[in-house]
Amino acid sequence: MMCRDIHSELEAITARYEKDQVVVVADKTVTGYGLPVMGNYPCLAVEISEAHKSLETVQQIWDFFFEQGLTRRGLVVAIGGGVLTDLVGFAAATYKRGVDYVNIPTTLLAMIDASSGGKTGINYHSLKNSIGVFAPPVETLIYPAWLKTLPIKEFLSGFGEMLKTGLLNTKLWPQLLQYDLDTMPIETLTPLIEQCVNVKERIVAADPKEEGLRKALNFGHTFGHALEELSIANAHPGVDPLYHGYAVVYGMIAELYLSVTKLGCSKAPLQQLTQIMLHYYGKPQCKCSDRERLLSLMRQDKKNEHAGEINCTLIRSIGSPQINQVITTDEALEALDYLFSL
Ligand SMILES: NC(=O)c1ccc[n+]([C@@H]2O[C@H](COP(=O)([O-])OP(=O)(O)OC[C@H]3O[C@@H](n4cnc5c(N)ncnc54)[C@H](O)[C@@H]3O)[C@@H](O)[C@H]2O)c1
Repeated sequence: MMCRDIHSELEAITARYEKDQVVVVADKTVTGYGLPVMGNYPCLAVEISEAHKSLETVQQIWDFFFEQGLTRRGLVVAIGGGVLTDLVGFAAATYKRGVDYVNIPTTLLAMIDASSGGKTGINYHSLKNSIGVFAPPVETLIYPAWLKTLPIKEFLSGFGEMLKTGLLNTKLWPQLLQYDLDTMPIETLTPLIEQCVNVKERIVAADPKEEGLRKALNFGHTFGHALEELSIANAHPGVDPLYHGYAVVYGMIAELYLSVTKLGCSKAPLQQLTQIMLHYYGKPQCKCSDRERLLSLMRQDKKNEHAGEINCTLIRSIGSPQINQVITTDEALEALDYLFSL
């Protein structure tokens, strides 16, 4: 739900619970900016990074719930980006077999993607989101003013996922192309956030457990996840891993190339996204010599239906996703060559 007044919207929800049965878990960075929305509820501030999306952090959150005497009839308020909402959603869904939680996303990526749809989880043995459950929040309160403190790269990462949603919707795509990424105004972004959330919610409502249609939301993610995982493996002091939304933009270029060559999609969205990529996201940091490792990562993707194959969502045109497109090794290499040639 989009909020004009986050305080009253949250109060309307917490009023349904006993006063001593509401607790807050928030991203420490966000609490550092001050968090008036917390009211007087007990709050656990959690250190956040992809490395903290772990069982240890979940234990820290469970311990906090026990210390606060939270029962199954309580409410957990999760305030932060996608790492925080995934972690808290998982901790809440597994605490005493499930306690209600509400998401208050504070990053663009969490607003338009991570905080809705019911996927929760943690990383395990370096595998992203490999332990988790489907457990939707009772509500997601989206208050775009949080974005004022968000670093530009985090903003662009979230916008990368918005562009993906735009390619699934004929009305949204041209509006996203009009958005001024040089000044990033929040007022004109707000209706775009709302439309992205609506597109995702409609798809999730039709296929909550990702058995068919929801795979459309994975557009750009087969190549994108491989690029992201490779960058995590290659990261070293001074060289950060790829932000998720950047990886999705690069992945969409490869998958739009295949959409053109395999499904006859028009070249316009590929050209439009390439322009945005070159202007705002830069070129991918991986090299041609990484091609074999990328292929191997794509063959291990948890979205594949059969072991060893490479499975993508492609588009026939904007708003017309085609799920379960199996691509050959040669096609994958050609798409990577195209991406690395830009
Ligand atoms: N559950 C889902 O459906 C789903 C969907 C997409 C992504 N995800 C997950 O979301 C995670 C990525 O989420 P993210 O991009 O929000 O990353 P994140 O939660 O790591 O937040 C990014 C950074 O921004 C900081 N931050 C958060 N809010 C801020 C604010 N208002 N001002 C300044 N800094 C702020 C955080 O402390 C962090 O350093 C990944 O773990 C991914 O797997 C989940």
